[in-house]
Amino acid sequence: MTDHLIDPAASHEKLLIIDFGSQVTQLIARRLRELNVYCEIHPYQNVDDAFLAEFAPKAVIFSGGPCSVIDEGSPRPPEGVYDLGVPILGICYGQQVMMQGLGGLVERGHGTAEFGRAYVVPHGELELLQGWFEGDKEQVWMSHGDHVSKIAPGFEVYGTSPNAPYAITADVSRNFYAVQFHPEVHHTPNGAKLYENFVRMAGFSGDWTMGAYREQAIAAIREQVGDAHVICGLSGGVDSSVAAVLLHEAIGDQLTCVFVDHGLLRKNEAEEVVKMFRDNYHMKLIHADERDLFLGELDGQSDPETKRKIIGKLFIDVFQKYANEIEDAKFLAQGTLYPDVIESVSFSGGPSVTIKSHHNVGGLPEKMGLKLVEPLRELFKDEVRALGAELGLPQSFIGRHPFPGPGLAIRCPGEITRAKLEILREADAVFIDQIRKHGLYDDIWQAFVAILPVKTVGVMGDGRTYDYACALRAVTSVDGMTADYYPFEHDFLGETATRIINEVPGINRVTYDITSKPPGTIEWE
Ligand code: XMP
Repeated sequence: MTDHLIDPAASHEKLLIIDFGSQVTQLIARRLRELNVYCEIHPYQNVDDAFLAEFAPKAVIFSGGPCSVIDEGSPRPPEGVYDLGVPILGICYGQQVMMQGLGGLVERGHGTAEFGRAYVVPHGELELLQGWFEGDKEQVWMSHGDHVSKIAPGFEVYGTSPNAPYAITADVSRNFYAVQFHPEVHHTPNGAKLYENFVRMAGFSGDWTMGAYREQAIAAIREQVGDAHVICGLSGGVDSSVAAVLLHEAIGDQLTCVFVDHGLLRKNEAEEVVKMFRDNYHMKLIHADERDLFLGELDGQSDPETKRKIIGKLFIDVFQKYANEIEDAKFLAQGTLYPDVIESVSFSGGPSVTIKSHHNVGGLPEKMGLKLVEPLRELFKDEVRALGAELGLPQSFIGRHPFPGPGLAIRCPGEITRAKLEILREADAVFIDQIRKHGLYDDIWQAFVAILPVKTVGVMGDGRTYDYACALRAVTSVDGMTADYYPFEHDFLGETATRIINEVPGINRVTYDITSKPPGTIEWE
């Protein structure tokens, strides 16, 4: 562990996932989290006998992977893993590596490859399969070219598929289990049951709960930070809000949050954030009102990339300016999440760590000589929300739609003016109000209004109007990488358009953006 990592799992029962490079290793972790089991994914290169001794797992899972065990130099677990005396589950490549390591045989394809849906039929009783095979076969997801042609001594076959005679194998006396398919993926509909059985058999008590996490994370933050000061950039988004509240609970006044108002926030947003954290939580909070600076620099700019660059640079300058005023600051808090830090196996040059650079303070820790404190780095997004609830943050904060760092600037194509921003804020507030009133907020991943750089002619009462057109945008998505437009009822759209035109001076035409991503992006710039 590097010195900036906290280890909230120190006293938890731990499961080790040895990663051989599968695309879906994260999903194994996800399934285990759902069972309240703490696990860590480590690339096989980093796992040696010393690591195993220190980590002391209660059980081990070998992930799948893209290599062939037949090839020289292909990934292997350390041999000592088989002597730990703990249950091991091998998946796909993990099965093959286990069979080969323990004296079985793996061969290449020749008509035995299987990709996609397959059906496994049972072959005898096995505790790992309890609750499975309610029918006479189970759907599973296969993705293998090589196959096991001879199982290792001590193993028996408990399930077969047309192209995998050793689809499910086990050496019950040693608690070693190995399957050819991927129980962690959606297309193995009952796969979670396998993990449930595995962790039960391994003796996990399910001690990975949010309440326990909270206590341990607080202890770990205190230990890491000592009596130094921590700076936390607060945007009002879920991650930074939860990180701030957790840190505050741990170190109180040693924490100072910096909230930068760049003049591109939504209606009442600055007031709400400041009120919540300063008045409710009594946090030390710097409200950096830098609206004039940002809007001044953006004046006359209409190119999307130029706007983003201006905002990004100013943000860092401003953040640094305020952070420099905080005495004895040694740490910068970031709301980095688990999917951002999972070490993935790179077959082109050793393990690589992907860490999301925070949109707004990227590069700052090095520049300012600060160490990082990342109290959410063990959590998935929905777990961050659960922790937020555990910490008493209101649902209105926890369940918020994502909001981009550059704010309304990228929802105002063309030139940004204060007048247009004001119109946009009002229209956006009406749209979100409509969505909430109709009970749709949680079904939609993100929703907002963009004000278009075009005025159109209309007629209101007996008079001609010449005002801005706006576009409503509402999408469904899982991760923001792909998205589809939300299929509102026509009545909803009609009612919303009427409300916006009636209630928001400056807009006389409303359109609904029905572009998916790809080919569009979610934001307009
Ligand atoms: P796009 O428009 O690329 O957006 O489809 C995908 C998601 O990312 C958000 N987004 C940003 N978030 N800083 C952020 O913090 C940014 O610069 C940024 N640009 C886009 C966007 O709101 C959507 O949720």
